[in-house]
Amino acid sequence: MTAEPGTRALQAAPEAIKDAARCLAAGGLVAFPTETVYGLGADAGNSEAVARLYAAKGRPAFNPLIAHVADLAAARRQAVFDPAAERLAAAFWPGPLTLVLPKAPGCTVSDLALAGLDSVAVRLPAHPVAQALLAAFGGPVVAPSANRSGHVSPTNAAHVLGDLRGRIDLVLDGGPCAVGVESTIVSCLGEPTLLRPGGLPRADIERVLGRPLALAATPVDDDAPLAPGMLSSHYAPKARLRLNAGRAKEGEALLAFGPAPAHHGLTLNLSPTGDLIEAAANLFSHLRSLDASGAASIAVMTIPHDGLGEAINDRLARAAAPRP
Ligand code: TXA
Ligand code: MG
Repeated sequence: MTAEPGTRALQAAPEAIKDAARCLAAGGLVAFPTETVYGLGADAGNSEAVARLYAAKGRPAFNPLIAHVADLAAARRQAVFDPAAERLAAAFWPGPLTLVLPKAPGCTVSDLALAGLDSVAVRLPAHPVAQALLAAFGGPVVAPSANRSGHVSPTNAAHVLGDLRGRIDLVLDGGPCAVGVESTIVSCLGEPTLLRPGGLPRADIERVLGRPLALAATPVDDDAPLAPGMLSSHYAPKARLRLNAGRAKEGEALLAFGPAPAHHGLTLNLSPTGDLIEAAANLFSHLRSLDASGAASIAVMTIPHDGLGEAINDRLARAAAPRP
């Protein structure tokens, strides 16, 4: 298989897997096979790499990503398992089931990859190449399906190259995916709830739980902006947000972008040089820090709407929306 300069395609042999793990550690983007579909992986703890991942996919919004881990011990470092989650993990991992769980105190997945949520989606894939890559890398890898936003999920390396050639660093070719549809997503934040039907049949899950799954009012869809019903579950600062502010008023905190006007109050800059990838990487952590300062209002400077700016503005608009 050939790829244009910029994206290497390697047969998933042991040396190539080590190479891919080094690439992830260096902040690179690596597509790899799982039993469901090919994922586009980035170091979950590296928000710049995660920002580049969103840019490569051309996502219109920062939807939260699934953190892929090598084993149950690694999953427990990222997420808190209640008894239902324990039963599901014991029955179906490794396999095509993603669990949405409360973040563990030591969770290392970046705020950007979590879209600012206090929950984390974790998955332990069954594919030997995915497992070898996760073990070699040694930390959680966030991986949405390795397609451009709005396209169907890829089930072989050629699909990945067709969509992402030149936009990512490496594709590990491990042949076609056995399952072919994405993982089933179950939230265990309260009553176990089916968020997305997928490769693991609902009936199998209900048999293990001994009761029916609740159904999400608005199923998740990674290519659509979140439905209004899910807005309340998304990160909202306590402070009011004033968007497209030229400068901050007395008593406001300032979230700047590019050259910042002088301001007496607390100022954090998403990117002094006006780099949208850097801005995306800083978005949620800066919002949290400004909110934690106790300011009643945060003035947010104008963010250009191109590239990742569209997703940044989507998140800012949600964070600024009136709440009940
Ligand atoms: O089979 C799969 O799950 C594939 C392979 C690569 O593992 N991955 C995948 O990821 O389908 P993605 O990003 O295309 O879909 C993940 C879905 C998104 O719809 C996202 O909104 C949802 O998971 N999600 C992630 N974290 C969530 C959270 N904390 N709460 C609710 N939904 C979440
Ligand atoms: Mg997808």
